[in-house]
Amino acid sequence: MAEDQIIAIFTIMIQIHHKYSLKDLNSFGLDARAASFARPGNLEALREVLALPDYHHMPLLVLGAGSNILFRDDFEGLVLQPGMKGIEIVEESGNELVIKVGASENWDSWVAHATERAWYGLENLSLIPGSVGSAPVQNIGAYGMELQECFEWLDAWDLQEKKLVRLKHETCDFGYRSSIFKGKARGRYIITHVAFRLNRVPDLKLDYGNVQSEFKKAKGSTPMDLRKVVIGIRSSKLPDPELHGNAGSFFKNPLVDRTIFSCIRVEYPDVPYYPSDGNQMKIPAAWLIEKSGWKGKRIGNVGTWPSQALVIVNYGGANGHEIYDFSEKIMEDVEGIFGITLEREVNVI
Ligand code: EPU
Repeated sequence: MAEDQIIAIFTIMIQIHHKYSLKDLNSFGLDARAASFARPGNLEALREVLALPDYHHMPLLVLGAGSNILFRDDFEGLVLQPGMKGIEIVEESGNELVIKVGASENWDSWVAHATERAWYGLENLSLIPGSVGSAPVQNIGAYGMELQECFEWLDAWDLQEKKLVRLKHETCDFGYRSSIFKGKARGRYIITHVAFRLNRVPDLKLDYGNVQSEFKKAKGSTPMDLRKVVIGIRSSKLPDPELHGNAGSFFKNPLVDRTIFSCIRVEYPDVPYYPSDGNQMKIPAAWLIEKSGWKGKRIGNVGTWPSQALVIVNYGGANGHEIYDFSEKIMEDVEGIFGITLEREVNVI
């Protein structure tokens, strides 16, 4: 093959875009631009992009489906969106299966695919926006379950060692909305595939909030019924990012010392809480925000969602700074009223 032909194939495989708009690639709908952008669909393409000398000293941002990110400005570097697809059973024993899924598969389509095939365990995590590759980064969780409960391992490109590695559960250091990928290994790995351990025997988790009562009301009995109930609850409370730009929960639920919790309880006997390990209690940030007077409040084109105060919405045309400043004001008030510092859950760029 002539050299010019090889260069042509090389170029087609990589497709690097410059000054690329990320508007359709972040769920806030912010019109930030990436100096360079590429979506490698396989490991070879990924390696080729990373090997290009232009990108050796540029800041790198790995973007999933952009559903947990706030761009305040353009990104003056290379944005890489892994494009690996595919769903493959890699292990089966008894009722258990291990299934390897490409990082760019849509999270909820994967949950639907698994539930339809009677591969159970993911039902409570239905309708969470985002991609499969991003799910372990923040250990996504909802309705009494976290990703780590069915996580087996993941494959990732190690930018430090320049090789593909397989990271098992124990290496990932999962916690509440956290993992090694948000902590000490931040920026080190590009996740290409995630493997899940699922089961052919249903094990319905109905304990969270009104899941049980909604399940009964719907006369539910199967995991698919549970998936539908979770979708119903989510849809009734949370804004659809297609209609109202948002990134789900903007803050984490804070852990507070029991002494502080007791003081709050004196004034607010109905304060909700989640049991937690040690000497701490987890209070819903949504409640703190609501009690600070921010539920449904709007400044210009930014506001909190009227039925879930933890979600900040771009009602159209807001920029990243406006959203960030809005969140700062909420934090100041919660700090002033309760003495509790909220931590952002979204990744601020
Ligand atoms: N609450 C309020 N005001 C509100 C909303 C809620 O006071 O406007 C109080 C209520 O007492 C309610 C409690 O907060 O019972 C908990 O609310 P919810 O069940 O909606 O859960 P959350 O703690 O606010 C977490 C996750 C959500 C997840 C839900 C359901 C975090 C940061 N958020 O929210 O995750 O869907 O539980 O499991 O942990 C996300 O991460 O993007 C996300 C949406």
